Amino acid sequence: MSRVYNFSAGPAVLPEEVLKEAADEMLDYRGCGMSVMEMSHRSKVYDDIIKTAEADLRSLLSIPDDYEVMFLQGGASQQFAMIPMNLMKNKVADYIVTGQWAKKAYQEAQIYGKANKIASSEDKTFSYIPDCSDLPISPDADYVYICENNTIYGTKFKTLPNTKGKTLVSDVSSCFLSEPMDVTKYGLVYGGVQKNIGPAGVVIVIMKKELITEDVIPGTPTMLKYKTHTDAHSLYNTPPAYGIYICGKVF
Ligand SMILES: Cc1ncc(COP(=O)(O)O)c(C=O)c1O
Repeated sequence: MSRVYNFSAGPAVLPEEVLKEAADEMLDYRGCGMSVMEMSHRSKVYDDIIKTAEADLRSLLSIPDDYEVMFLQGGASQQFAMIPMNLMKNKVADYIVTGQWAKKAYQEAQIYGKANKIASSEDKTFSYIPDCSDLPISPDADYVYICENNTIYGTKFKTLPNTKGKTLVSDVSSCFLSEPMDVTKYGLVYGGVQKNIGPAGVVIVIMKKELITEDVIPGTPTMLKYKTHTDAHSLYNTPPAYGIYICGKVF
């Protein structure tokens, strides 16, 4: 067997002990006679897997009880739409554009309301993080959006922007769990797991409970409402069950 030094941003290297444990459990997960890939997501065995994964993530990040944790599908890119669909109550949001991923999120939000670009580093090919200490935050903004670690450009917010009291939404796909994070500074923080945590196919959303309501943009599909998923503890439909299992092992 040969294993390379894999420096890919993502999908990225996973801990070898996780892969070995998963290999050992491939044909018979802990005596239940089947692989995690083959079992019902409604089974007691799987319920333990997803509940333990959530509990371990909560403990790692000290996620308080007034925050929900969701294991969703659609990748980080689906969040570019879900965030405005669910949070743009006033149909206004402010975006800080520091890279291609923030730019994509900003462009997507324009479909659902007025997305304002309140700061950008595109003038110098996204090579820096703008000063975000006193930005022209819109008085009626529903949230302020950042991509905290710009995977392609290698820049990272060392200090979170001063949102002047507005909800902060952050894409942490490429810095998720790489350092401690104070979840309470965010209204919503999310990331695709394929960079730091597990196999592609899972996106984790950590969201303040009070922001999760039925008051979403009219026409929002059931599957794209956060409430659908929190009400069902990420089991509204068949989740990316094997991916969540691997995330749990990494936690
Ligand atoms: C910061 C960031 N956000 C979003 C994405 C898009 O993720 P996905 O491919 O899961 O939609 C990526 C990368 O792939 C990323 O690095």
